Amino acid sequence: MQIHPRIADLRAALKGAGRVAFVPTMGNLHDGHIALMRQARAHADVVVASIFVNRLQFGPKEDFDKYPRTFENDCARLRDAGVDMLFAPDEREMYPSPQRYHVEPDQAHVNILEGAVRPGHFGGVATVVLKLFNIVGPDVALFGKKDYQQLMVLTNMVRELALPIEVIPGETIRADDGLALSSRNGYLSVEERAEAPRLSRLLTHIKNRIAAGDRNFLKLETEAVADLAAHGWQPDYIAIRQRCDLQAPAGDAPLVVLGAAKLGSTRLIDNLEI
Ligand code: PAF
Repeated sequence: MQIHPRIADLRAALKGAGRVAFVPTMGNLHDGHIALMRQARAHADVVVASIFVNRLQFGPKEDFDKYPRTFENDCARLRDAGVDMLFAPDEREMYPSPQRYHVEPDQAHVNILEGAVRPGHFGGVATVVLKLFNIVGPDVALFGKKDYQQLMVLTNMVRELALPIEVIPGETIRADDGLALSSRNGYLSVEERAEAPRLSRLLTHIKNRIAAGDRNFLKLETEAVADLAAHGWQPDYIAIRQRCDLQAPAGDAPLVVLGAAKLGSTRLIDNLEI
């Protein structure tokens, strides 16, 4: 695997390389990321990953400095997964001067759900992803459904800015008990880890109820929030939304149920398409 910390070197290496699939990451890779790398292979001649911890998407109260950096281990996993090139810039390479031009996503898409607890987060994500797209020039880019709102924002960005890139979603990878894989799972105590699958179980219950014809969305959401709270969680939301823009369901638009809650000091998110 070639490792390129410099934009110019990556661009030179990619000249005439054929069809490029790109998987951006912030490192600290788990099996969910690796599944995206393997999925990318089916779409391209060259698979490019990036590792860059993007300061722009961290709020003032979120600890950018404490974000786990596991570069050597990540490289070994990417090599195993058959990734051809890794773009791994430092901050001076990506932001040689303060970034003054930003992508501003539709506020209706970003002031809700995750955006409501992380103001500015999705603007920071969209800005760095557009910049990474301009650096890598991919034909396809892959993002996991685990971060469903991120996937929605980036899919809309690509469409509305007419970027010549196909966005391909990757399914959420789960542990045997249903817990969605996340770098944050490592912060759970043994007891919390045993409790954590409750979130995916509740989402599955809601999915099954809706599939069986239940349209009382508010009751389903409220009951799930109460169940989490009764088991020691601090729920942020359980929300049934339409997939395309995560607004309240209208007509027969395809739906997704999303949840976010804190267990101890660890905040978990998950979702299921219905
Ligand atoms: O999902 C992530 O790891 C990040 O938000 C991304 C897309 C790499 C942008 O920094």
